[in-house]
Amino acid sequence: MTERIKDLITRLQEEHSLSEAEYAELITGRDKEAAALLAGMAEKTRKAVFGDAVYTRGLIEISSICKNNCLYCGIRRSNPQAERYRLTAEEILSCADEGYTLGFRTFVLQGGEDPFFTDEVLCGIVRELKKRHPDCAVTLSMGERSRESYRALHEAGADRYLLRHETADAGHYAKLHPEEMSFDNRMRCLQDLKEIGYQVGCGFMVGSPFQTPETLAKDLKFLETFRPAMCGIGPFIPHRNTPFRDEPAGTLELTLFLLSVIRLILPEVLLPATTALGTIHPLGREMGIQAGANVVMPNLSPVSVRKKYELYNNKICTGEESAQCRGCLEQRMKSVGCYLAVARGDAPGYTGQRM
Ligand code: SAM
Ligand code: FES
Repeated sequence: MTERIKDLITRLQEEHSLSEAEYAELITGRDKEAAALLAGMAEKTRKAVFGDAVYTRGLIEISSICKNNCLYCGIRRSNPQAERYRLTAEEILSCADEGYTLGFRTFVLQGGEDPFFTDEVLCGIVRELKKRHPDCAVTLSMGERSRESYRALHEAGADRYLLRHETADAGHYAKLHPEEMSFDNRMRCLQDLKEIGYQVGCGFMVGSPFQTPETLAKDLKFLETFRPAMCGIGPFIPHRNTPFRDEPAGTLELTLFLLSVIRLILPEVLLPATTALGTIHPLGREMGIQAGANVVMPNLSPVSVRKKYELYNNKICTGEESAQCRGCLEQRMKSVGCYLAVARGDAPGYTGQRM
């Protein structure tokens, strides 16, 4: 590690900020030693804020039907081989009931942009979920919607919303998405969600096609200014039936490095060690925690549909029952000195006040 890289890391730890050019320099000039130094600082920061608790979010993949055509995504509209399904309200609620018994206190409803889930339908599900489990947080990850829709869902009881920005560089965004999707609308959604009062999660794939140290530097600057409550990053993994089928996957090494950088930029951020990270390496999630992550998102979807929510090749945890998934993660977290907290796991300082 050069003196310059060491200086950048020290400044990042002290000031939680670098210039965009410096972020790019840090990424380009990184080596094993720099990654180890950063990971040590990131783990210390995580412990200072969260102790040894790792928060769990029970992920319910409610639909594989999507009107969008993101070039990287296995369930994009133009993949005729994708197996489509949609859970009924009753199925979604019973996944959550089972999750509650297992110790989950946050449920994430995620899916493609399926027109079936109108505000009326989705608000009804959110309301019933909150009625059955008032001590739980409900997170939605259902893509781009109107401000009015986000407001209605928040009023129905949704606490959080995950919408990865995917890239903070408009030119890069255009290379990952079809023409009908726009960077400006993605940003508009994130701004609306924040103003409405959600705890908002953004994020991006590591190693997506056309990504450069410069676009990543923009992502980091965006996190610094947008200050999300959550940030989901995981490696891009190609899917065989997408235009990016022959692109290389993102690396474990760069994903871990960026997790550590993000922990230092935003010490209080809720940062998952993602399923994609566990897919590219058998111990990816454990290493993610050791690099500064503090959230895991085990799958609560019915086993019968898990293989159908196939965003990328070889996705893990598609054969296990929910209880097995939780048990498995409990052991994995224990192996790195952490435990799975039975708690909502809100952003520190979150008061629950609603607009
Ligand atoms: N439709 C919602 C949305 O667009 O936000 C939620 C579902 S979408 C499948 C969730 C996330 O999966 C995306 O934000 C994207 O970053 C990630 N994803 C999609 N395809 C991927 C791939 N091939 N490799 C890794 N992550 C992928
Ligand atoms: Fe819609 Fe991936 S293209 S969820």
